[in-house]
Amino acid sequence: MTFISQNLAEQTRKDFPLFSNQCSDNQPLIYLDHAATSQKPQQVIDALAHYYSKNNANVHRGAHQLSARATEAFEGAREITANFLNASSSKEIVFTRNASEAINLVAHSWGDSQLEPGDEILLTLMEHHSNIVPWQLLAKRTGCLVRYVGITENGKLDLDDLQVKLNKRTRLLSLVHVSNTLGCCNPIKEITNLAHNVGALVLLDACQSLAHQSIDVNDLSIDFLAGSSHKLCGPTGVGFLWAKEALLDAMPPFLGGGEMIQEVFLDHSTWADLPHKFEAGTPAIGEAIGMGVALRYLQEIGLDKIHAWEKKLTQHLFQGLEEINGIKVFGPSPQEQKKRGALATFIIKDIHANDISALLDSNGICIRSGHHCCQPLHRHYNVNSSARASLSFTSTISEINQFLEELKSAIDFLKKNS
Ligand code: ALA
Repeated sequence: MTFISQNLAEQTRKDFPLFSNQCSDNQPLIYLDHAATSQKPQQVIDALAHYYSKNNANVHRGAHQLSARATEAFEGAREITANFLNASSSKEIVFTRNASEAINLVAHSWGDSQLEPGDEILLTLMEHHSNIVPWQLLAKRTGCLVRYVGITENGKLDLDDLQVKLNKRTRLLSLVHVSNTLGCCNPIKEITNLAHNVGALVLLDACQSLAHQSIDVNDLSIDFLAGSSHKLCGPTGVGFLWAKEALLDAMPPFLGGGEMIQEVFLDHSTWADLPHKFEAGTPAIGEAIGMGVALRYLQEIGLDKIHAWEKKLTQHLFQGLEEINGIKVFGPSPQEQKKRGALATFIIKDIHANDISALLDSNGICIRSGHHCCQPLHRHYNVNSSARASLSFTSTISEINQFLEELKSAIDFLKKNS
């Protein structure tokens, strides 16, 4: 497969059956909600069907050839995931239900065993609820403190505030790579250096970056990374935690049950080797295999090509939005931050974001409105909700143009009828 970035959408859209759907009055469906969940290529849908129709068996119970085939495909997906991140070993990949579960795993296993009253967990104001609530629960259990780094006026992480808040009590900095609301891309290498200088570990929520730019966990020098399959063209129901092997080795199990044990006695049990120590119960086998196929699919296109195309689309989107009166777009513009994410979150004076999304929906355009699981960030801007258009490598300039036209009409209509 050779892809030229200008034509990436044209060359890849045919792989996605959902894009051939029409909405009710025969208009093409315009899906601009990729940050909420990605669409799935036929290759991933086929992988699920193939697993369930040809290889369905439980894994790691190799009494028969069917189970051996299922295990091989499942563990193959782990290898693909490790390779995608340039991890040192597939033992560093723990399959979870989603990124939230990956973060909860660290909060329980590492947090409960390591933290003392007065220790600090540092988060940022732009975190998704999934990277806030597990730490609040941990603080209740252990007496640790949760602190937040602020953001600058143009919606980037405030690196000066980060340096002020990092101190020798900080045990972990847990932050998002690309914000699902501001779209800013945090400078992780620089941030990790600062955190490691005070002895803090770094957990990266990479849900909004994994399908949009290449990520090398060793190069970033981070300690944990949480990822979600459904945001990267894979099935729902599966995600993963990557962590340095030495950290996982030292951490106690998260959930107990089958699969994660070596031996069970009446009064105690011993644990399976990594990564199975953290995978209690029958995993989402077909879904993990599907995620592996999705990661291969993205790799074959090339993350650098994806990033280059999405950058052009984002510039076009911002340019169009900036020409609309009364609109405020959150986060840095593509001029202010070259690596920003392919999404734009905005509010319009005197118009509710839900009304905008409902009117666009009636014209076959899907965007998200609400707080995007970032209530503290919305509170900071003193708004309850915002509208968000989010793109992928399958998005086209003409989809963006149509969205901008319909948005202008919706604003005119709502202003006249308010
Ligand atoms: N976290 C997802 C979003 O940003 C659901 O829409």
